[in-house]
Amino acid sequence: MQRRALMAAACRAQNKNNRNGDPMSLKLNVIVGSTRPGRRGLAVAQWLAEHAASLGSFQVELVDLADFNLPLLDEAAHPAMQRYEHEHTKRWAASVAAADAYVFVTPEYNYFPPASLVNALQVVMGEWNRKVAGVLSYGGISGGLRAAQQLRLLIASTNMHSLPQVVPVPNVPALIDDAGKFNPVAATVDGSTAMLNELHAWAGALKTLRNPS
Ligand SMILES: Cc1cc2nc3c(=O)[nH]c(=O)nc-3n(C[C@H](O)[C@H](O)[C@H](O)COP(=O)(O)O)c2cc1C
Repeated sequence: MQRRALMAAACRAQNKNNRNGDPMSLKLNVIVGSTRPGRRGLAVAQWLAEHAASLGSFQVELVDLADFNLPLLDEAAHPAMQRYEHEHTKRWAASVAAADAYVFVTPEYNYFPPASLVNALQVVMGEWNRKVAGVLSYGGISGGLRAAQQLRLLIASTNMHSLPQVVPVPNVPALIDDAGKFNPVAATVDGSTAMLNELHAWAGALKTLRNPS
């Protein structure tokens, strides 16, 4: 408890600093990784996006992969060429390009992230370059940690910095109420705050790296 209180105090100080600096200049996309009907991921991601917005350090957008309806990679050119032929790819590339940082909200399917999310990461390439990503995973008792670790490998392979501060959410069905709202435990709130603060620090540094003055 004492450690949690210390961490919360540090986070409050960090958020205050963020506000005093250049608030909202960095854009965060919270990406819903699952697309199946009845998915729990949307409720979890909605909570995380609201929580991130409440910290005041990022301009936050909830990005739902289901809205993009991305087929399995159907572009002829290698994504690094950015010669996109299809509207769905152009739309997705624009969404990715607009952000400085990402949190992937991922379920665990057979110890792995969902194909929808793996595909979305692979469809574009340069748009991820030199940015930073965190992962919030959820599932059964494991909290989706095995999927999170696999996803971190893929994130790193796109030349993003993959934060080690993963937030695992165990037993996700028990945390969604009858109205479909996700109700996190205190450790999830504190862990998410810590992850978002780390994300913000890296996002600022990497923006400078991408746009040296
Ligand atoms: C295809 C499939 C595979 C799953 N595999 C796992 C698994 O490996 N580990 C786990 O903890 N839960 C697993 N589950 C249970 C999911 O954690 C749970 O259904 C969760 O709600 C899935 O996320 P979603 O609702 O956003 O799709 C699996 C569910 C599905 C549909």
